[in-house]
Amino acid sequence: MSKAELHRDGRLGILRIDNPPVNAIAPDLVTAMDAALTAFEADTSLAALVIECAGRTFVAGGDIAAFDDPSFSAGPFNALLARIEASDRPVVAALFGTVLGGGLELALACHARVATPTTRLGLPEITLGLIPGSLGTQRLPRLAGVAKACEMITSGKPISASAAAAAGIVDKLAEDHALAARELALHLAGSGAPIRRTRALIAPDADTAGAVIAEARRAAQARPWLPALAAVADCLAASVQKSFPDGEGVEARAFSDLVRTPQSRAMRHLFFAERAAQKIPGLSRDAERRTISRVGILGVGTMGAGIAMCFANAGYPLHLVETSQDGLDRGKGLIAAAYASTVTRGLISEDQAQARIGLMTGSTDMADLSDCDIVVEAVFEDMELKLSVARKLGAVCKLGAIIATNTSTLDVDRIARETGRAGDVLGTHFFSPAHIMKLLEVVRGKDTAPEVLATVMELSRRIRKTAVVSGVCYGFIGNRMAEVYMRESEAMQLEGAVPSQIDGVAENPAFLGMAMGPSRMLDMAGVDVGARTVVEWIKSGKGPQDPAYRILARTLYEHGQHGQKTGQGYYRYDNRKAVHSDDTQKLCRDLAQAHGVTRRAAIPDEEILERLLYPMINEAALILEDGIAYRPGDIDIVWTAGYGFPAWRGGPVFMADEIGLKTIVARMDHYAAALGNEHGYWTVAPLLRHLAETNSRLSDWQRHI
Ligand code: COA
Repeated sequence: MSKAELHRDGRLGILRIDNPPVNAIAPDLVTAMDAALTAFEADTSLAALVIECAGRTFVAGGDIAAFDDPSFSAGPFNALLARIEASDRPVVAALFGTVLGGGLELALACHARVATPTTRLGLPEITLGLIPGSLGTQRLPRLAGVAKACEMITSGKPISASAAAAAGIVDKLAEDHALAARELALHLAGSGAPIRRTRALIAPDADTAGAVIAEARRAAQARPWLPALAAVADCLAASVQKSFPDGEGVEARAFSDLVRTPQSRAMRHLFFAERAAQKIPGLSRDAERRTISRVGILGVGTMGAGIAMCFANAGYPLHLVETSQDGLDRGKGLIAAAYASTVTRGLISEDQAQARIGLMTGSTDMADLSDCDIVVEAVFEDMELKLSVARKLGAVCKLGAIIATNTSTLDVDRIARETGRAGDVLGTHFFSPAHIMKLLEVVRGKDTAPEVLATVMELSRRIRKTAVVSGVCYGFIGNRMAEVYMRESEAMQLEGAVPSQIDGVAENPAFLGMAMGPSRMLDMAGVDVGARTVVEWIKSGKGPQDPAYRILARTLYEHGQHGQKTGQGYYRYDNRKAVHSDDTQKLCRDLAQAHGVTRRAAIPDEEILERLLYPMINEAALILEDGIAYRPGDIDIVWTAGYGFPAWRGGPVFMADEIGLKTIVARMDHYAAALGNEHGYWTVAPLLRHLAETNSRLSDWQRHI
């Protein structure tokens, strides 16, 4: 069956698109739409045309996968849009679902648009490092104004149907969009009113567009690593200064340049990696799942409170348990304060906040968790405590309930065994603040039942987390890699680099572009939090038996210098502002001397970058070899969604391929020779060396299951 066909409904032609799952514009769909439009053009008995879609949404965009094809061209689709717009009989788009990218551009080429009230409309191309390539930059400003177009294109955020109606993008809102579109099409055909072609309009705010465009250029200059932003400004300028065909040329040239940039390739890689991460090898999409209607949270500290909010935000009734009434009150206080700040920032209304708080009950008796379908245990990160809690939960939780232990490093298998029902158990690693950070590592234990994993992955989607499955190991995917990154950051501080130089390199987009460098991040998260787990890891005999291993963090911890909250960590804090700390520098000199570390007058920025990044990439290869991550893309999602790794670099694995694996292996070997490799820190992962030798990409590596 063709993906688009022309039907007749009385005097109307109905061009119906049917290209599951999201009616994305692919080359064969364009061919089918072309034929359907030709049939409409030939049948002069039809008074007007309605364009509608089967399935769950109107067209949700161009087929992103097609952009990787070097022969890809938006030309045929754009020519089709021009023919639709040129029609001398009215064409109306019937919108519902997510009208994104090429979908909105198709709608803009029609003469009128009807949408259901729940429709979302947007041009998200910027999130793929692109600009709209099918005249979105030319038609949207003409219809809705340059300011609105600029906001929508540079943010990439979809807007509601009512906002679209207010902006003049949608002409009518109706629950029954198909019927309303037919009525409007017949009305337009019967009224004899001139056809309203978007290309012929002049932007309603053309007079003030200069200021908007100047501001867009300034914003683009501030983020030069996203060249799409400057292109948006150029295209918007063309939409008010040039003819439509000339503007079309400006957009086409910019799009074809951008689609080839490493930034856009990286961001497209993340789009598909994020979706691939939801798939569990060996588990079909319709695998059995357990029903979750009531959630229990055990331990309402900072983490537990944030986790509780995630569930309440998604409408789940919750029961919170703490060891004492004081503890429970403190936890509820944290939740109330966090909601109050959400209300102050205008993100939700006071009523919404109260409704969410109203979903929570609390007590100090674990037995009250017995009617919950899942219990997330978020007690302090201490193995003995976790084990004792696991024993109790194993007994208290009802048959079939899932037990999730929230941990950033601990052995989930050991905790699971302690419950006496390991099949029901898995780990969750929420990132702090849990109600804000997107990432959730879901830790699959040796015995975790497949339907338990499938249920929690589905639940993650409902609570709007980007979930990635990790196997059990110290630190899982994210913190295992962060460990080597921190190790080198601290080693270089002992060798003479100050934290501001190292953080500067990590944060500088010319080098890496992390949201926050390693020392600033540890100071913010609390040096004690990280150091305590490192101490335990070393004590357990599984961690590195190197006396100098992360000795700086361990010593700061012992000295009570826990970062921002104590006013002193890697940096000193002057009213929350990180400033150089002479004390920490003295400590670095003392530690260097005690551990026989040679200090240098200066460490070049290039070395800092390589020593932060390459061991992480090497660890990523080990994580893949060990089967801790299913796929290379999962690692990129963990780092971009959880650690502030820049999306435009595609994550550490994608970046490794851009740098070249041969280069990375050669530099690892270089550092092994230059710095010594007594503890194996510079031993190249066999997988990495093999892929480098065979000119392969780490991103493309697949485990053979
Ligand atoms: N091109 C190609 N494939 C697409 C696509 C597109 N524009 N949009 C979605 N898909 C695919 C996804 O890869 C996924 O495939 P899979 O099931 O094989 O993994 C499937 O459609 C469903 O998408 P998913 O995101 O899982 O569904 P959802 O209901 O959560 O969200 C959308 C639907 C449309 C909101 C979301 O997919 C989206 O934002 N798509 C991108 C839209 C876009 O950027 N368009 C502009 C492109 S220039």
